[in-house]
Amino acid sequence: MNILILGSGGREHALAWAVLQNPKCDRLIVAPGNAGIAQIADCAALDILDPGLVVTFAEENAIDFVIIGPEAPLAVGVADRLREAGILVFGPSAAAARLEASKSFTKEICDAAGAPTAAWGHFTDADAAKAHVRAQGAPIVVKADGLAAGKGVIVAMTENEAITAIDDMFGGAFGGAGTEVVIEEFMEGEEASFFVLCDGETVLPIGTAQDHKRVGDGDTGPNTGGMGAYSPAPVLTDAVAQRALDEIVRPTMAEMTRRGMPYQGVLYAGLMIKDGAPRLVEYNVRFGDPECQALMMRLGAQAFDLMHAAAEGRLKDTEVNWADDHAMTVVLAARGYPGEYAKGSVIRGLDTLPETSFAMCFHAGTALRDGQVVATGGRVLNATARGATLAEARDRAYAMVDAINWPEGFCRRDIGWRALDAEG
Ligand code: AMP
Ligand code: GLY
Repeated sequence: MNILILGSGGREHALAWAVLQNPKCDRLIVAPGNAGIAQIADCAALDILDPGLVVTFAEENAIDFVIIGPEAPLAVGVADRLREAGILVFGPSAAAARLEASKSFTKEICDAAGAPTAAWGHFTDADAAKAHVRAQGAPIVVKADGLAAGKGVIVAMTENEAITAIDDMFGGAFGGAGTEVVIEEFMEGEEASFFVLCDGETVLPIGTAQDHKRVGDGDTGPNTGGMGAYSPAPVLTDAVAQRALDEIVRPTMAEMTRRGMPYQGVLYAGLMIKDGAPRLVEYNVRFGDPECQALMMRLGAQAFDLMHAAAEGRLKDTEVNWADDHAMTVVLAARGYPGEYAKGSVIRGLDTLPETSFAMCFHAGTALRDGQVVATGGRVLNATARGATLAEARDRAYAMVDAINWPEGFCRRDIGWRALDAEG
């Protein structure tokens, strides 16, 4: 098969790496890709937010199957247009992608499905939002309704913080995403991510993970897109996963189908778990980045078969072959991230790294310039490894980190600390 993956981050490098291991893959193109992806697949410059261009590109290159990595192309209907053109695609329609693109939509669906989540209110007016905060008290969570690149959520520990967040959002701090605001009850517990595939009828769990959102060791400092992740998530035990499926994910999927927008693709449920009971924090309509890197390391070549089965509506007859293993990914970021950072610094030592089914350094934000790999983003590399224990995976991942010569970069040294403490 000729396969096209849309995206340019570490998630897409990991997807490409897994797909290429599958003998069903004849040709792989990644658009737009990055310097790491270019070492294993063809990369093509393509505006992946233009559905018409994506369809034309797929037709011209005889593509049999398109895998959409990020949420933005999904939200603008790239999957819809590909399906209309008769091209097989992994990823939900724009209507179903609202499970990520609109927080109030998700809350409504959860209420209709009876899925446990935080109590919430939806506001289009700053005064009403502030009155709600004063009535509820802190801690409380203020969210911009639309896509805000993971930055539109303020967990306010005081009423004043919440009021300031409301002023910022209605003042345009998040552009169009902030003109509608959702205010939620603060949920306590431990967070974990649950990944399932859906084909509109069947739901198939494919793994659990936890990420580290804060930039600094000990989970301190500002929030980022994720500084590292590991899989499986010990807090998401089989019993908790079963409850999440029965109480949250399956009712949500059934409600989507009932409303005429069956969900097809990967659904990433962010859960808050307290006393063995999961509640939904949020849905994402794509793989997590960097969680995907750890998941692909564990799933390997079967990841392709699973995504292909989801796209063809065959999940009912599909099984996941679990290995009793652990994976970890450590993000190397440019100094300054998630604030201002410089671009263009040279990264050395990458050619000394292992490239095996146990250890891979995925590229997230790199380009090739005059034969050298340079950093082009905030999150730049993902040292990813697998082992019989999380400690073994951690040691392999950090051995890669230590072999990379990039003075302008940094990483957290404590990815997985919570689970490693428990592993002992
Ligand atoms: P979201 O983008 O909705 O996942 O929110 C980003 C982060 O904010 C989550 O990963 C949680 O750590 C936190 N968060 C969001 N909503 C809540 C909530 N209702 N209670 C507690 N923490 C929350
Ligand atoms: N790592 C969090 C996300 O992909 O949203």
